[in-house]
Amino acid sequence: MSLTSEIQKRRTFAIVSHPDAGKTTLTEKLLLFGGAIQEAGAVKSNKIKRHATSDFMDIERQRGISVATSVMAFEYEGLKINILDTPGHQDFAEDTYRTLTAVDSVIVVIDVAKGVEPQTEKLVEVCRMRKTPIIVFINKLDREGRDGFDLLDEIEGKLGLHVKPLSWPIGMGQRFKGVYNLYEQKLNLFQPHGKRKQEEVIEFKDVSDPALDKHVGESAAEELREELEIVTTVYPKFDRDAYLAGDISPVFFGSAINNFGVKELLDCFIQIAPPPKARQTEERLVTPDENNFSGFVFKIHANMDPKHRDRIAFLRICSGKFERNTNYMHVRKGKKMKFSNPTAFMASKKSILEEAYPGDIVGLYDSGNFKIGDTLTDGEDLHFKGIPSFSPEQFRYINNANPLKSKQLDKGLQQLTEEGVAQLFVKEDNNRKIIGTVGALQFEVIQYRLEHEYGASCTYEPMPLHKACWITSDDNEAIRKIVSQRKKDIARDKDGNLVFMAESAWALKMAQENFPKIEFHFTSEF
Ligand code: G4P
Repeated sequence: MSLTSEIQKRRTFAIVSHPDAGKTTLTEKLLLFGGAIQEAGAVKSNKIKRHATSDFMDIERQRGISVATSVMAFEYEGLKINILDTPGHQDFAEDTYRTLTAVDSVIVVIDVAKGVEPQTEKLVEVCRMRKTPIIVFINKLDREGRDGFDLLDEIEGKLGLHVKPLSWPIGMGQRFKGVYNLYEQKLNLFQPHGKRKQEEVIEFKDVSDPALDKHVGESAAEELREELEIVTTVYPKFDRDAYLAGDISPVFFGSAINNFGVKELLDCFIQIAPPPKARQTEERLVTPDENNFSGFVFKIHANMDPKHRDRIAFLRICSGKFERNTNYMHVRKGKKMKFSNPTAFMASKKSILEEAYPGDIVGLYDSGNFKIGDTLTDGEDLHFKGIPSFSPEQFRYINNANPLKSKQLDKGLQQLTEEGVAQLFVKEDNNRKIIGTVGALQFEVIQYRLEHEYGASCTYEPMPLHKACWITSDDNEAIRKIVSQRKKDIARDKDGNLVFMAESAWALKMAQENFPKIEFHFTSEF
């Protein structure tokens, strides 16, 4: 098969949601359709247990398992679908943000009763920044929830998305009769789990047909007709190009647990979702169909077994063909590397792959060569854009608790920050080390892993800090001025970039006013 047809076959996406909206359940149903798993529950058991979030042993165990389920690939209708899993727990949000750099589209799951929740807002914001095409799935229609129009208003208001319903629910909760699929003009009748072998789908081009009353009852039919009239007049016609540009988001309604509305979602997804797209590097635009191979590392996973310090680097292929045992250029290190056992992720199994194509994710065993954002190519000097570090929100001073193990501590901190578990800053005035994270849980994870994997121990000291922002300026004198005048608020990140450590929102605002020539950035990519 040619490179172009391999590329056209691939759909690489992530499902994102606020915890509990139904991401795991939906993933599992999609895998069942793809024949990638045989029974329900296979994915579920890999989920970080919500009730044990402060138990880091449990997190460790889960992390080990989650390598296998980080990417789930399956074939469906001649396409190769790659689902990238994203951690649900908000303390791992940064991991999720970075995974979003490796996908071509996303499905956002929203709970019909809860509507748009905070985690959904943050994740969608990242997608919007990147203009990633989004499909919305409103879940749990078998329960009482909010009015469909209300929800769509909220999605438009809070998420800043323009929506177009491609299906519409007929009642909800006890009165849930099914959905009308506007995309295919079909009526899907709902029967709760267990009572139904196959979804009952009826072609229904014209809802004014009186036969509709027979299927769903007179009043539900009337309600549906009225609502559909509003849907078709208020919302724009669905336009695939607008969806692909990230300007319009189709919306589906269903119930993942009952496997209802999931097939429609998948069938529409495979028709409209984009194959791998061109990607921007600092040097030039890289198109997937060029023969030169390129890819970037978006995630690094440590081995669970402390006796084996190797890690798995997750490489997203952007162009050309990747082959086993072939020399590639590690651009940052300027050295050639080849991989004898690159891993493919087919659902929950891992296997060695011979070749892979744009859109695919390859697992590379790594003994410490990679960090997030690294590029591999055929030899060309390329740096992919859009893999930022986010401004952390929680900070602590880290102290070495065992002076005999300071080398181990440094090594451990270096590797853990390369994995993206947290960010490390060093204060300009006193060289003290500060750990910055997106969530509080990472502090426990770091302490535990330093001890168990590196034999180092640390203690933390609280550090009340509002935000760390990267600072730049075209004017070297302005940089010199802020560094000398505000030395106690300045630190450097692991790459030596200058960072302003703002004690409060007020202090940040004042600094922005006092140093007008300085730009304050909230991600490390600028
Ligand atoms: P998450 O990955 O987004 O965190 O959500 P997950 O799929 O784990 O779903 C969260 C809860 O919502 C689960 O219940 C799940 O069974 C339930 N759920 C998912 N889809 C639907 C749906 O369509 N209708 C209804 N009524 N419930 C749904 P749980 O009690 O937390 O877990 P479990 O005991 O069922 O495993």
